[in-house]
Amino acid sequence: QAAEKGDYKHFMLKEIYEQPAVLAATLEGRLSATRVLPQALGTAAMELLPQVRQVQIIACGTSYHAGMVARYWIERLAGIPCQVEVASEYRYREVVVTEQTLFVTLSQSGETADTLAALRFAKTAGYLASLAICNVPGSSLVRESDLSLMTQAGPEIGVASTKAFTTQLTALLLFTLALRRAGHQQPDQEDPLEAELVQALRGLPRIAEQTLKLDEAIQELSEDFAEKHHALFLGRGSHFPIALEGALKLKEISYIHAEAYPAGELKHGPLALVDKEMPVIAVAPKDDLVDKLKSNLQEVRARGGELYVFADPYTLLEPEEGMKVIHLPEVNEVLAPIIYTLPLQLLSYHVALIKGTDVDQPRNLAKSVTVE
Ligand code: G6P
Repeated sequence: QAAEKGDYKHFMLKEIYEQPAVLAATLEGRLSATRVLPQALGTAAMELLPQVRQVQIIACGTSYHAGMVARYWIERLAGIPCQVEVASEYRYREVVVTEQTLFVTLSQSGETADTLAALRFAKTAGYLASLAICNVPGSSLVRESDLSLMTQAGPEIGVASTKAFTTQLTALLLFTLALRRAGHQQPDQEDPLEAELVQALRGLPRIAEQTLKLDEAIQELSEDFAEKHHALFLGRGSHFPIALEGALKLKEISYIHAEAYPAGELKHGPLALVDKEMPVIAVAPKDDLVDKLKSNLQEVRARGGELYVFADPYTLLEPEEGMKVIHLPEVNEVLAPIIYTLPLQLLSYHVALIKGTDVDQPRNLAKSVTVE
């Protein structure tokens, strides 16, 4: 296996750097110039998707965070209600299933015990159909679902998931656009928003590549974290799940306690924890919520919190006393969660390196949790 790492010190770093290529592979053959190809989800989907009135997403760990981003996309772009839940909760409660609901599982491995058990339950519970978004062809989840949409991340060895997550997001956006089109009165008509997003998706691998060039600057930031015991991640809207994923990565591989909050909730508790010992990391893309996020960041500064912000240049957030800012390349707002994940992966990687932990095989964790 060591040989497969090539020039990289760890599988995790190699997998982070593979993202431009695997994002491209996940899009390959699924887009025309202006739309997601109708057959991208298989021919059975073409009949099923127009019947979908609600979506229920189930997943665990990092895959669950991908599902949380998808909820923002599905409700905004397809106008269909969407619920997301971790499999270990969903499978043990009394669930009310509404009519015409599509049951969607997300999983890198396709073998996670709780997710598989949730699917097996769902098949008896009156859902319209099941769709697996998965990275392993022939896995249990894919075999047992009615529809599947494969991510093309290739084998992921590092326990902390990186490229599987960003390819899941990419597949979920394709799925969202397919649902949007299926809901149109005339499914063949031109849809300017779909065309714009398809264009943006085509440019995604290149923007990912540019973003990875920030590696050195992020490595510098990571030095501030090595002595810290806690960290707080903030985001709003579809970037709240990205903050959650950033916190999870830091916990998993550097063993620093990290939490994530939707920035608007700061004043309902976490502000009490903020002082100079608690680094606060924020993701600040260009979107409708950026002014609100900026005032949340002011609240942190006013309490002496040290800020680390990954921002779109158009936010006009600039480095100042107590606030380090790294500007990301410009990206379509809808796709931004995919791009803003990358600096957070690199940050946790570099912090873990300084701390000397076992990056690819963190203590107490397994790549695939196949028993409950
Ligand atoms: C484990 C892994 C995580 C992964 C989760 C769900 O906890 O360490 O990286 O996100 O399982 O795995 P799945 O294969 O279902 O995506």
